[in-house]
Amino acid sequence: MPAPTSSTAGAAPATRPGEGLRDRHGRTATDLRVSLTDRCNLRCTYCMPEAGLPWLPKPTLLTDEEVSRLVAIAVRDLGVREVRFTGGEPLLRPGLTDIVAAAAGLQPRPELSLTTNAIGLERLAGPLAAAGLDRVNVSLDTLRADTFKELAKRDRLEATLRGIAGAAEAGLAPVKINTVLMRGVNDAEAPDLLRFALEHGYQLRFIEQMPLDAAGVWRREEMVTAAEILDALRGEFDLVPDPAHRGSAPAETWLVDGGPAKVGVIGSVTRPFCGDCDRTRLTADGQVRNCLFARGETDLRGLLRSGGTDAEVAGLWREAMWGKLPGHGIDDPAFLQPARPMSAIGG
Ligand code: 5AD
Ligand code: SF4
Repeated sequence: MPAPTSSTAGAAPATRPGEGLRDRHGRTATDLRVSLTDRCNLRCTYCMPEAGLPWLPKPTLLTDEEVSRLVAIAVRDLGVREVRFTGGEPLLRPGLTDIVAAAAGLQPRPELSLTTNAIGLERLAGPLAAAGLDRVNVSLDTLRADTFKELAKRDRLEATLRGIAGAAEAGLAPVKINTVLMRGVNDAEAPDLLRFALEHGYQLRFIEQMPLDAAGVWRREEMVTAAEILDALRGEFDLVPDPAHRGSAPAETWLVDGGPAKVGVIGSVTRPFCGDCDRTRLTADGQVRNCLFARGETDLRGLLRSGGTDAEVAGLWREAMWGKLPGHGIDDPAFLQPARPMSAIGG
């Protein structure tokens, strides 16, 4: 169990009943990311080793009821307005539809979305939409079958494309597509991917690769930067900064060829947006993380299972967020990658 590292000294205002998930740097988290499993049916190199990882032991995983109780506490007592289910691959969680339905029944009704690789979404999009899911973010890094296989170690491009189409048909709109570019692997495909998204009415966002791979092989010099991505797109498209205000959204957006179509670039590393961060994260084994890159976690599962009340859980969650650091510090020479890889945190 990772030791909580963030100090909660001076936490008094953070634990006041009725108050939201504030931190000492003036931010308030209203966007909850819930990882429902650390397993995945792909092995994208920037996330998981080909052989997989030691999965979280089943008894440590939150049950569907425990997830739903924590989501309810977040929405009712802590001011969370948006809930995004992630993984690993959340479509692999048997209870996903029930968990979505429970969240959709909350008052005030949170916005509900899913980050997925879309494999199986063809079949599940309809039931998920009926359960109350509003939107999906699909990871798609290439349109070439051979590159897909190289990048994700599985031959599933067709299944992914069918899943994306299924999401659009089920009205899970706007369908957002997340793409991570890797030098020498899929970086030449940026314009093709944008053309594909424009043709289908999907919103494409490129994400700079972050140091969250399980093998710890990320090198800043090898990362395809936001500036490079924009340069590549400008070779084929006319891009004008989107006049709409960015708010806490991590993507900077550009109007493509005069609009209304847009493309987003999430410069997580070279253009960090931590000052506007509104996220709080819950892992599949019931740990709150106040940042993707947090080195410590706060155990809500233990409190739940030892009979903690909703008010006590809410108080511990507030404390966990109060200690959030101002930024991820990737550029700091002392930066250390978190012990948990992306697959066990969720995007
Ligand atoms: N860097 C950037 N993005 C990543 N994702 C997964 N791992 C990384 C990483 N190391 C993306 C996936 C998915 C979203 C949850 O985060 O592509 O779309
Ligand atoms: Fe928020 Fe952490 Fe991501 Fe920065 S790195 S935006 S603080 S989750």
